[in-house]
Amino acid sequence: LKFVCFYNDGIDEHMVWLIGLKNIFARQLPNMPKEYIVRLVMDRHNHVVGGITYRPYLSQKFGEIAFCAITADEQVKGYGTRLMNHLKQHARDVDGLTHFLTYADNNAVGYFIKQGFTKEIYLDKDRWQGYIKDYDGGILMECKMDPKLPYTD
Ligand code: ACO
Repeated sequence: LKFVCFYNDGIDEHMVWLIGLKNIFARQLPNMPKEYIVRLVMDRHNHVVGGITYRPYLSQKFGEIAFCAITADEQVKGYGTRLMNHLKQHARDVDGLTHFLTYADNNAVGYFIKQGFTKEIYLDKDRWQGYIKDYDGGILMECKMDPKLPYTD
């Protein structure tokens, strides 16, 4: 198992991974329109770390997690936690982000709470409002990253 971070840069191998990831998202997030998933996953601004796509707002120092999914027969084995930890480490140390925001599906709120997310949004509104779109289908959650903690070994 390896964790990689890349984006839609036209490299064949990366395209194959993105299409595989798009298929996992389409199966695991059946309420999301497929065209929307394709558009976001293939968007050059979305970086992909395994099964999570996020969009960094570098000037605002936060990232928005768009999609997060683990393929059905590998769920609840700890991969979602490891993926999130790699994402936190990368976003903090490479992108310089301090927070994540996400619209969590109702059934995934428990997972996000275990990853340190809260339903209370402590981040100043003027840092994020107008940057991320309002979305009715989920619960806005926030995670503040520790400035020093090693998230991966
Ligand atoms: N509800 C409540 N708790 C959960 C859920 C859930 N849906 N999924 C995992 N957990 C718990 C686990 O029991 C575990 O608890 P523990 O540490 O006490 O043992 C902890 O969260 C971590 O579990 P992992 O095994 O690391 O999580 P997993 O690899 O299964 O990944 C994920 C979690 C991504 C939610 C996966 O189950 C999945 O793909 N689900 C279907 C798609 C989905 O709902 N994605 C999120 C949509 S919201 C969004 O994308 C912004």
